[in-house]
Parts: sequence; C-alpha cells; structure tokens
Amino acid sequence: MENNRYLEALALMGVGGAHPGGLHLTKSRLAAENIDSRMAILEAGCGTGQTAAYIAEQFQCHVTALDASETMLEKARERFLAKNLPIELRQGNIENLPYPHDHFDMVVAESVIVFTDIARSIAEFKRVLKPDGVLYAVEMVLENKLPEHEMKPILDFYGVTRLLTETEWRNLFYHVGFQDVRAEVFTIPSGKTGLDNTPDFLLSENVDSGWFDVIQEHEELTTLYEERLDFRIFRCSLDN
Ligand SMILES: C[S@@+](CC[C@H](N)C(=O)[O-])C[C@H]1O[C@@H](n2cnc3c(N)ncnc32)[C@H](O)[C@@H]1O
Repeated sequence: MENNRYLEALALMGVGGAHPGGLHLTKSRLAAENIDSRMAILEAGCGTGQTAAYIAEQFQCHVTALDASETMLEKARERFLAKNLPIELRQGNIENLPYPHDHFDMVVAESVIVFTDIARSIAEFKRVLKPDGVLYAVEMVLENKLPEHEMKPILDFYGVTRLLTETEWRNLFYHVGFQDVRAEVFTIPSGKTGLDNTPDFLLSENVDSGWFDVIQEHEELTTLYEERLDFRIFRCSLDN
C-alpha cells in the first residue's frame, strides 16, 4: 500500500470523497436504504472518513471506520474530533478484518476493493456481515476489455493487479455467497457543485508538488478512458 503512489497522493492531499460521484453519490445511495440508529455500519477503507462522518451524523447509528493508511486515519480522526462524532476508528487490512462473524448490518466500501486482493476482501465482508446484512460498494469497471498495451499503464498507475467487468465483479460476489447482487450505473449530474458535495481536502504539511501531478495524472487517465473505464454501485445481500 505504501508503495502505491496514487493512494499515497490521496492520503497526503487528504482527499475526502475519493470515489466517483463523491458525497453526492453516497447520500443518494444511502437514502435508498432503511438505516436506523440501532444499526452497526462499517466503512471499510474510509480514507479521511467523509462518508463515515456523514452516516453518523445523518443516521445516528453505530459507525466503525477502518483504513490501512496511518496518514488517512490521522485525517479521519481530526474530522471526527472536530465534529465530536463517536466513530470507532481502527487501522487494519480489509483482507483480514479484525471483527467477528455476523457483526455488521452494512459494510460500505467506496473505491477500495480494487486496491486489494479482491476475492479475499469480498469474502471478509461477507463473513463480518449479519445474515440480513448489505454490502454497498462503489468500484471501477471495465466497459470493454482493453488490449494489454492499454491496460498496463492503468494497472501500473493505480497499483492494481486487475480491472474487472461488471460481470466479473458480479461473479466474484456470487462466488463468496452473496445471493442478490445489483449493479447500478450512476450518472453524475452536471452542475452538481454544491460545496458539501465536492471532495474536501485535509492537506499534510509541506506536500511536495510532485504529488499534485499524480492527482492530475489520475484526472487525465479518467478522461482518456472515459468510454472504457466506468464505475458501478454494487449492492450485495445474502437473501433474495
Ligand atoms: C481511493 S481511496 C477511497 C477512500 C474513501 N473510501 C473515499 O471514498 O474517500 C482508497 C482507500 O482504501 C484504503 N485501502 C487500500 N487498501 C486497503 C486495505 N487493504 N485495507 C484497508 N484499507 C485499504 C486506502 O488507504 C485509501 O484510504
């Protein structure tokens, strides 16, 4: 992880809402769920904790936030303290979650799984979810297979080993035992620039300008491959 330049740049910039659609997508997706204050929700790969903070404020339920990066966690801690939110924050690896079986009502993972051993992380989510629990994940998908020479720079830049099509994601979710898997295409509305929906930044001190170039490179790749590389919101549950 620490040798992943893209994730390190996000951590140093302290980008909140570092997933496609940002907080706007999160809010509209979670509004469709029946979340109540008795629920236990895990934000896995929480980054600076923008989503965890939103869930705790909006639904007053029990929120746990976990990330592998100490830099991200410091910023999440800062955010939760400033808002006085009782969120349990923990350093950990989503491939090996430090929680018992059947523990959470919902796991939220926004732009996280692709950076890990995908099959292991999904199996862990399934393990820690209660039988009626829900996994909600936002993930990059390949719309069409790319030739090797086009795939390689993307894999190298994001430090990931593979990019999956929607069908490949679905198959992996089914393989670990999720029984109902829905994939939603989300169109980011144009002009959606309300301040609370834009990413927020919690910059580390003395960030070298080279790290800004990494974020710029991400923007360029996204534009270059906008027809081929998109994302889906996956909602996976254990019952039909
Ligand atoms: C693209 S960022 C998204 C952060 C946050 N979900 C958001 O939308 O702002 C990916 C996050 O996943 C975390 N991450 C990557 N691999 C991880 C792992 N194996 N275990 C826990 N966190 C991980 C990174 O540290 C980073 O904070």
